[in-house]
Amino acid sequence: MPVHSLTPILLCLLPVWIILTPGSCHPQLSPCQLIQRSALCNNANLSSVPSGLPHNTEELQLNYNHFQTLQDDSLLGYPSLKTLSLACNSLEKLESNTFQNSKLLESLNLANNKLYIGYTETSYALKKLPGLKALDLSENELHDEFVTILLQNLTSIEYLNLSGNLLQRLDETSFSDLHQLKELDLQRNIMFELDGAFDSNPKLQRLNLAFNYLPCLTDFHMTQLVVLNVSHNFIEWFISNDLNETFQLETLDLSNNKLLFFPFLPSHSKLRNLYLSHNNVRFYDQLADNGTSLNSTTTVEFYNLKNHMRNVTARLWDDGLHGDISSLEILDLRGNQVEYFPVGFIQKMPTLSRLQMCTNCLETLNLTSEQFSGSLYELDISNNRLNQIVADEGQRGSALSMHMGSNK
Ligand SMILES: *[C@@H]1O[C@H](CO)[C@@H](O)[C@H](O)[C@H]1NC(C)=O
Ligand SMILES: *[C@@H]1O[C@H](CO)[C@@H](O)[C@H](O)[C@H]1NC(C)=O
Ligand SMILES: *[C@@H]1O[C@H](CO)[C@@H](O)[C@H](O)[C@H]1NC(C)=O
Ligand SMILES: *[C@@H]1O[C@H](CO)[C@@H](O)[C@H](O)[C@H]1NC(C)=O
Ligand SMILES: *[C@@H]1O[C@H](CO)[C@@H](O)[C@H](O)[C@H]1NC(C)=O
Ligand SMILES: *[C@@H]1O[C@H](CO)[C@@H](O)[C@H](O)[C@H]1NC(C)=O
Ligand SMILES: *[C@@H]1O[C@H](CO)[C@@H](O)[C@H](O)[C@H]1NC(C)=O
Ligand SMILES: *[C@@H]1O[C@H](CO)[C@@H](O)[C@H](O)[C@H]1NC(C)=O
Ligand SMILES: *[C@@H]1O[C@H](CO)[C@@H](O)[C@H](O)[C@H]1NC(C)=O
Repeated sequence: MPVHSLTPILLCLLPVWIILTPGSCHPQLSPCQLIQRSALCNNANLSSVPSGLPHNTEELQLNYNHFQTLQDDSLLGYPSLKTLSLACNSLEKLESNTFQNSKLLESLNLANNKLYIGYTETSYALKKLPGLKALDLSENELHDEFVTILLQNLTSIEYLNLSGNLLQRLDETSFSDLHQLKELDLQRNIMFELDGAFDSNPKLQRLNLAFNYLPCLTDFHMTQLVVLNVSHNFIEWFISNDLNETFQLETLDLSNNKLLFFPFLPSHSKLRNLYLSHNNVRFYDQLADNGTSLNSTTTVEFYNLKNHMRNVTARLWDDGLHGDISSLEILDLRGNQVEYFPVGFIQKMPTLSRLQMCTNCLETLNLTSEQFSGSLYELDISNNRLNQIVADEGQRGSALSMHMGSNK
């Protein structure tokens, strides 16, 4: 009887087995999928580097495995490696000679591990990578001093990800060896102070500081920066250093902060995208016109206690000091307190294409006197207090899409 009942099961399994090993005499034992010079060994329950991969492997992906330590001899067999990825393991350390034979390695992803445990030994390992360009250390529970040690002497790095760690305070020692740094992601830490942290990184172009606890950015003087993201902080003041130099800044994201004033932007810049949504921005120049009673409070000075050379003065009520907004294409002011546009403000933006003003306090709008740019194609003034919108007949081309819902 038992023999009879087994037979149909065997018959079912046989064709499946044939499909799994098509036309091959060697059953596939490697946990890795090989595509050209890449070995993809993700999610394969590995705790050590598989041996027997091609000697000339250039990319090795070992994400979502169970690595705790990367041992000195792990990579000896793969001297052509350019890209190594070990994200989402339980890595505590890389032994100090791990990269003795990895002189070509350019990209190393160690995201989401536990390198806070063995950062000292790991730092010795990293120093043996002369051509390392991209390093991802995000989500490793790293504190300020761990990061300083890990990054010492890593002079070739161009891209660095430190997001989701425990950084609180950065100073001029933090990134002092990273002279080639172009892109730095510091979002989702607990930072409240940046003290000259980027002074040694003259090539830095993209900086993400979103989701931290920064209270202000005064003395902003990073002329080479192209993208700055400081959204979701507690910024009350953004004040540029009044340098007689053109800032390369194109995108500035200050959304979801506590700004009371339109940011004090550089006087010469290429700024195209300015995101200021969800702050408390309004304009105050109507206050400044009203006589002398405000004399004593019209300037505010910021003192850097350690270094008096960095005093910054801002003339608060002078809306003429918005800085260079002549290249703006997108201005996002959703969810602020704007009651009116200062005289000439809109005209300063001849290439503006999107103006997002929904949920503010606008009361009147005279499209004729504001002289909106001819390239404006989106104007969102919904959810304001508008009771009057004035426009010359035929003034606007049909391309403009205007949202006006929820007004008086
Ligand atoms: C994963 O590997 C461990 C030993 O390294 C073994 O005990 C376990 O059964 C493996 N799990 C799976 C799902 O293969
Ligand atoms: C790091 O750089 C410093 C000076 O640039 C040098 O003295 C030191 O030996 C380097 N350390 C290592 C481990 O390479
Ligand atoms: C940095 O790492 C985080 C988390 O691993 C990721 O979400 C983010 O996209 C990375 N940043 C960049 C610029 O690649
Ligand atoms: C700034 O960073 C936040 C968080 O990563 C992201 O949601 C937002 O899109 C970024 N802003 C820009 C302009 O890219
Ligand atoms: C700013 O620089 C320009 C040319 O680079 C020069 O003509 C001008 O005088 C400078 N202004 C100030 C205030 O230094
Ligand atoms: C200042 O003057 C403007 C008109 O120029 C007026 O609308 C505003 O209420 C005045 N503000 C104060 C505080 O007196
Ligand atoms: C305000 O400042 C002006 C010039 O700076 C001065 O003439 C005037 O007396 C001041 N008013 C008060 C009330 O201090
Ligand atoms: C900055 O302010 C302090 C305190 O008022 C002052 O002593 C110092 O001279 C100022 N420095 C500069 C460069 O203005
Ligand atoms: C709107 O602005 C134009 C041009 O400045 C002006 O002629 C017109 O009187 C204004 N309309 C209203 C209702 O204020």
